[in-house]
Amino acid sequence: MRAAWYQRLGPASEVLELGEKPDPIPGPGDLLIRLFASGVNPADVKRRAGLGSYAEMEHACVIPNSDGAGVVVGIGENLQPSWIGRRVWLFNGQRLGRAFGTAAEFIALPSKFVTDLPEHVSFDEGATLGIPAMTAFHGVFSDGLVEGKTVLVSGGAGAVGWYAVALAAWGGARVIATVSGPEKAERALAGGAHETINYKSDDVAAKVAELTNGLGVDRLVSVDFGGDLAWATEVISLNGSISAYASDTQAKPLLAFHEFARRNIRFIPFILNSLPGEVLDRTRWGINSWLNNQPELMRPVGGKFGLQEIVAAHEAVEAAQKFGTIIVRPGD
Ligand SMILES: NC(=O)c1ccc[n+]([C@@H]2O[C@H](COP(=O)([O-])OP(=O)(O)OC[C@H]3O[C@@H](n4cnc5c(N)ncnc54)[C@H](OP(=O)(O)O)[C@@H]3O)[C@@H](O)[C@H]2O)c1
Repeated sequence: MRAAWYQRLGPASEVLELGEKPDPIPGPGDLLIRLFASGVNPADVKRRAGLGSYAEMEHACVIPNSDGAGVVVGIGENLQPSWIGRRVWLFNGQRLGRAFGTAAEFIALPSKFVTDLPEHVSFDEGATLGIPAMTAFHGVFSDGLVEGKTVLVSGGAGAVGWYAVALAAWGGARVIATVSGPEKAERALAGGAHETINYKSDDVAAKVAELTNGLGVDRLVSVDFGGDLAWATEVISLNGSISAYASDTQAKPLLAFHEFARRNIRFIPFILNSLPGEVLDRTRWGINSWLNNQPELMRPVGGKFGLQEIVAAHEAVEAAQKFGTIIVRPGD
């Protein structure tokens, strides 16, 4: 099969290679999937670059990327032949000890990471669902349903943040999103946000107090926990919660215990890939319910690249100017 890989960590242009690898063979419980789209997420890029907690090569050779979409073309032992021919989206490709991800024509992956792709969702869109939509779903719903609640999403025009806005609105919440400017505000509003706050120029705490008549929000879904801490405890109402999926500006933020304790704020930091199986199942089926309930809403694709352009695709994620998920097409 055609694939892209790296054998050492470093800049995309220096370490990513293209060529042929043997087709994978599905083991017991695995599906063999022909990939039409591979999603490139910040964590795939950080792993390849050796950033943060990814300072060492995990394997001698890594085919990058966690997410993708395609068609099932083979099954391992213990799986039903009815899987063959099904359109699917998937996550946890190059994750959890697996060296070979989705930047290739085929992947063999446990069926628990593979979900039917509704007919109205394209392969490119399907490859945006794994990390971005699932992280958003868990961020919004990990502390329970949101009907009638107020949810604040920081970074409401990011790949994860936009899905968090859309899912919280679908769940019946009033949604407020922080953004860095008017274009991003428009995107968050298109996703279903009711109000936006410019976190660079506005006083976020004062603005939330104004929008909520001083009541605050029930839940914060945070893209930058360390940065959001400047105002987070001021805006969470009594017994509210903060779910946080990143803290890029401060890896070790100082946390004022009494501000959390006095308001009984639950703090839910998480990494999607290793959440318990039943939570991941609930999350992927929840995503499919949303796709079927709101088929008209976009699934943002931030750019499309052929497999031979994988360097440019990784660099586009690093540039962080995209809206949505960058897609690599292994078949092109
Ligand atoms: N825990 C997990 O399982 C998990 C899963 C997915 C992603 N992540 C991490 O989450 C982060 C975002 O991923 P992504 O795919 O959504 O990236 P993305 O598409 O590049 O979006 C990042 C967004 O965050 C916004 N942002 C950054 N700092 C902000 C702040 N202090 N306040 C408000 N908005 C802020 C950016 O907007 P502006 O530039 O306009 O500010 C941008 O819209 C990455 O660090 C990624 O590794 C973690």
